[in-house]
Amino acid sequence: MRVTDIIMKKRGTFVRGSDGTQKTAGNTQLTKEEIKFLIDGYVSSKIPEYQIASWLMAVYFNGMTFEETGALTECMLHSGEVIDLHDREVKGLTGPFVDKHSTGGVGDKISLPLAPIAACCGVQIPMMSGRALGHTGGTLDKLESITGYTTSLSPKKFKELIAKTGFAMTGQNERIVPADKLLYALRDVTATVESVPLITSSILSKKVAEGSDALVFDVKYGSGAFMKSVADAELLASYLVKTAQAMGKKAAAFMTNMNTPLGNKIGNFLEIEETLDCLNGFGPEDVMELTYAFASEMVLFAEKAKTKKEALEMCKDAVASGKALKKFLENIEDQGGDVSRLLEDNGKRRSVHRAEFKAQKDGYLKIDAYMTGLAGVYLGVGRNKTTDKVCAEAGIILHKRECDHVKKGETIMSVYGKDEQCLSPAMELIEKSVSYSEKKVEKAKLIYKEIR
Ligand code: URA
Repeated sequence: MRVTDIIMKKRGTFVRGSDGTQKTAGNTQLTKEEIKFLIDGYVSSKIPEYQIASWLMAVYFNGMTFEETGALTECMLHSGEVIDLHDREVKGLTGPFVDKHSTGGVGDKISLPLAPIAACCGVQIPMMSGRALGHTGGTLDKLESITGYTTSLSPKKFKELIAKTGFAMTGQNERIVPADKLLYALRDVTATVESVPLITSSILSKKVAEGSDALVFDVKYGSGAFMKSVADAELLASYLVKTAQAMGKKAAAFMTNMNTPLGNKIGNFLEIEETLDCLNGFGPEDVMELTYAFASEMVLFAEKAKTKKEALEMCKDAVASGKALKKFLENIEDQGGDVSRLLEDNGKRRSVHRAEFKAQKDGYLKIDAYMTGLAGVYLGVGRNKTTDKVCAEAGIILHKRECDHVKKGETIMSVYGKDEQCLSPAMELIEKSVSYSEKKVEKAKLIYKEIR
């Protein structure tokens, strides 16, 4: 087999249509063997990055069938160790093991309050998350902003912590889904993130490798999501649910709105702070709505409640009783984090490089998620290159949210950058992210549809 032939097959040949536009012709469907050849070759460094980058772009344009996506997911999954949580290596792992995964958004910290809440309800959660990708934030980067916290757990340690606390948070590494670690980083810098089969295989290879029995997906649509349209998000949701079910997992997806940032805080440490707010019982309404929707679904999948209502009550009680906050802090200690420092830093740890964004006129606000997410990348919340370091203290605090009314001169956002130079391009993007309407703006529905 030759790599170039496989790239050419996926690329197809261009023909000019009757309307003068170029279209791809020919069968671009790859076989299981061809996909395996590419993934194995890439992981073992026999195939160079530039050829994989070219193949990724061909996939971006020509897509993959459901069968190809399944084959790619299997190859990625078996590029490393697959954790078996049912193997009895560690006592106390009873299951069922349920996890939630988001396709990525701006200010999307739902996994952080959700895991301790669901764990308090008896769910065991093996959570394997990702890093900031494009304009979206990453759970691992947020957790690592806690002094001392490690997201690099051995499979044995991962199991021990799930058995002990009910959940553990890890990232894929050289041993677990190494193919995704490489592909995720390469897609981020080659503009090939927004692809249904690539997102499906990336998410599912990690989720199956971590050993979950059931999965709940948060499939986002809108300007701040990788899938801009509802139709694309619905396709992704159905690929995720169908591929997961074909791999023997229970699965459901909720399609949720990502046109405006979630919550009042965007940034690595800032989102840890907002998690503490949520677990202390004063989380923003939108963050709590999604947290409870996903956590209660996980409780149902784990058969810890009989009805959605009962599951929801259990989740709310975990917060009201303070048990979920205790569990979150227990996990931080489990994974090497400094809890007293975190509590001391809460509300205070901010970059000294700061600016205020003030309303330029009176009106009802619209705040665009993509533009604020992109501003976050400039500020140091995310990355432009794989080698970029993220900044824990960078981010944005939204004092006003979409639909709020502002008067000219009122502060809408406080902006924190990794250095002084990044503030000016970030403020330009923030200016573009905000628009003002004379008419009252109605709040959009947060959960659009459930796919099962
Ligand atoms: N999250 C992932 O884990 N992978 C993607 O490709 C996109 C979002």
